[in-house]
Amino acid sequence: MELTANAKINLTLDILRKREDGYHDLQMVMQSVTLADCITVTPAKGPQGDAVADLRFLPTGNRNLAQVAAAAFRAAAGLGGEVDVSIRKRVPVCAGLAGGSADAAAVLRAMNALTGAGLSPARLADIGAQVGSDVPFCVLGGTALAEGRGELLTPLPPLPPCQIVVCKPPFSISTPPLFGRVNVRKIVRRPDTAGVLDALGVGDLPGVARRMYNVFEDVLDRRRAADIAAVKAVLIDCGALGASMSGSGPSVFGLFDREDAAQAAVLRLRDSFRDVFLCAPAGPKV
Ligand code: C5P
Repeated sequence: MELTANAKINLTLDILRKREDGYHDLQMVMQSVTLADCITVTPAKGPQGDAVADLRFLPTGNRNLAQVAAAAFRAAAGLGGEVDVSIRKRVPVCAGLAGGSADAAAVLRAMNALTGAGLSPARLADIGAQVGSDVPFCVLGGTALAEGRGELLTPLPPLPPCQIVVCKPPFSISTPPLFGRVNVRKIVRRPDTAGVLDALGVGDLPGVARRMYNVFEDVLDRRRAADIAAVKAVLIDCGALGASMSGSGPSVFGLFDREDAAQAAVLRLRDSFRDVFLCAPAGPKV
């Protein structure tokens, strides 16, 4: 079975509080994009399922999130055998784009179909929450408000049609230490989440774009902050309606209402960066 595992971007990312369990309560407007991995799930050839990707440094076997998802599905549904997962990786890894979570979500959908278990999307998302905080959103896809750890999802009206330019600078940012640097009481700038929800409600793309923000941008060290700001500046200079960092970074994206402007941004960014993509919003999976 072949599936598309769409990446996500954060139109907003706000951190509300630190929780007793060490996680943080978040408020994020999430958007699926057409940039995606291609996943093939087949009955395992050996006694244990494997996971292989066309990128050598990705974890294989049961250290890959795809196999963690398969095991979580078997445990929760009481159904399904071992599966081999093959991943054609197109989404940059460790990039704030939920690439690994998207692969895990695709495996949950595949096993639900292959076993005929018929679990509801909400139940599949619940299982996904045990695998990673972004997996529930990746199960449902589309446009959604994610709260709690990221598992409390409210579907939203779709982002109006637009071009999305995604650029991943050539460094990675580890998520747990970044959360560790956040002092919730000292966050000065926050996204206008309520304003973004209102703008989505009336299909106002510029209204969404100018209210986007990611609070992680304020806790980056000075050098990384400058790198992110430089990418945002190119996107805005080329005509993006707004630009922001996605997730815990380092990917930066811009929203465009003109394809020629988006193409120009891609060309300019490709002078300096290898991982530059032109994509579009993707709709819900269910
Ligand atoms: O759930 P996931 O494995 O994706 O989270 C990775 C790490 O990010 C967690 O171990 C935690 O340090 C941090 N995190 C957090 N609050 C969240 C989500 C993740 O503190 N809502």
